[in-house]
Amino acid sequence: MTVNAVLDEPEEPSGSTSARQRDAERVVGIIRDSFSKIEPQADALANKFYALLFAIAPDTRAMFPANMEVQRSRLLRALVHFVQMVDRPHELTPFLRQLGRDHRKFGVVTKHYESVGTALLGALRHYAGDDWTDEVERAWADAFAIMAGAMQEGSAADDGPAWWEAEVLHHERLDWDTALIRVKPDQEMPYYTGQYVSVESPQRPRLWRYLSPANAPRKDGTLDFHVRAVDGGWVSRSLVSQTRSGDVWKIGSPLGNLWANPAAERDLLLVGGGSGIAPLLGVIDELAGRDTRPYVTMFFGGRAVDDLYYLGELRTLAEQHSWLTVVPVTEDGSAEGGEQGQLADVVTGHGVWRDHDVLVSGSPGMIRSTVSRMLVTGTTFDQISYDSFTTD
Ligand SMILES: Cc1cc2nc3c(=O)[nH]c(=O)nc-3n(C[C@H](O)[C@H](O)[C@H](O)COP(=O)(O)OP(=O)(O)OC[C@H]3O[C@@H](n4cnc5c(N)ncnc54)[C@H](O)[C@@H]3O)c2cc1C
Ligand code: HEM
Repeated sequence: MTVNAVLDEPEEPSGSTSARQRDAERVVGIIRDSFSKIEPQADALANKFYALLFAIAPDTRAMFPANMEVQRSRLLRALVHFVQMVDRPHELTPFLRQLGRDHRKFGVVTKHYESVGTALLGALRHYAGDDWTDEVERAWADAFAIMAGAMQEGSAADDGPAWWEAEVLHHERLDWDTALIRVKPDQEMPYYTGQYVSVESPQRPRLWRYLSPANAPRKDGTLDFHVRAVDGGWVSRSLVSQTRSGDVWKIGSPLGNLWANPAAERDLLLVGGGSGIAPLLGVIDELAGRDTRPYVTMFFGGRAVDDLYYLGELRTLAEQHSWLTVVPVTEDGSAEGGEQGQLADVVTGHGVWRDHDVLVSGSPGMIRSTVSRMLVTGTTFDQISYDSFTTD
């Protein structure tokens, strides 16, 4: 899961809501209500937040890009987003622990959490005016403290490197807007197949972006990334067109938990869109290295066949491995031997996938539509796993 949670996930299965849960829901209600009144002034709020933060803790300025416009207040948006999810601790806490571990790459230490909390409350108070009551302040402060606590725990529990330096060994265009970039970290970087990492390139200092390794962990430690240049994107275009062998990237701690059940006792359904297939390729790579593995069906979707940048390679893999079936899906029906329609419709058109574990990877919109359709048509939530893959 990332900043953009794509679905409202089910609450406690028992149906009996505990007092703690009710309290958390009340706090979230107060936070949402107060934020809805401030939201129209989001830009001014962001300016105030960063001005306060850099005044309280000047050493944090160097953690952020020189030009703050290009990030469009990522940190503030993340704070507001997560604070409103504080009633979903089972989902949020493991992710926040990973995020805290990852934040070590910025040089974030305990005192900075206090500064960020003070700046957040100060900015909110400024724009809430008379709506800023003691109760509202307590709700925001408590929720922030829970999040900051989980992040600090995650950070303290890890004594591995705060980041890895990784040399670019190879850069190759897979199609006109997608590149394969192979890097080798300077020391072992443990990660699970399906996880993602944030990277910083020398061409775009302090603009970190998430990328998913397209391979299972290798003995030589190398990682392959598939990067697609996004229209108007600051980093992806530069990674695709300016990366050179010998460049040294920084890589943060791995995050996410897309493949929660790598034992793979049940057959697997993989649903991927665009360069969102990278972690799914990692899964196929890992299974190919095992002595036994389940049957795997992969749906690879895009608007037209030109979007299916890796279809040739996937077809070759399917020819090599009898346990792998690859189904190209395009909206215009342009993929030979494929199916036509939206991924969500085509996948659910094949039934309920009752005996499968399902991994979904792509843009937030694609994940939302696929997972919702699957739930409506009878696949259960515990079968499905996804990390939101966003260009925002
Ligand atoms: C878990 C995860 C895994 C990922 N894995 C991969 C991967 O393996 N490969 C890959 O290629 N990508 C991956 N991504 C996406 C990647 O992290 C970047 O988000 C993507 O490359 C775009 O970054 P950018 O800097 O080029 O675009 P940004 O500059 O961040 O812009 C993103 C979009 O916002 C638009 N935009 C920019 N400024 C504004 C503005 N002021 N107002 C409105 N819109 C604006 C841009 O036009 C663009 O469309 C992943 C993302 C996540 C969350
Ligand atoms: C509860 C506390 C916090 C939460 C939930 C949080 C969450 C996040 C998230 C989700 C991102 C976006 C990652 C991305 O680029 O996609 C982010 C970025 C960032 N955070 Fe945090 N963070 C917290 C505290 C802090 C603190 C204490 C600092 C130190 C000052 C910090 C510094 C940063 C920086 C420098 C970035 C990159 C911002 C940018 O690129 O503009 N964060 N944070």
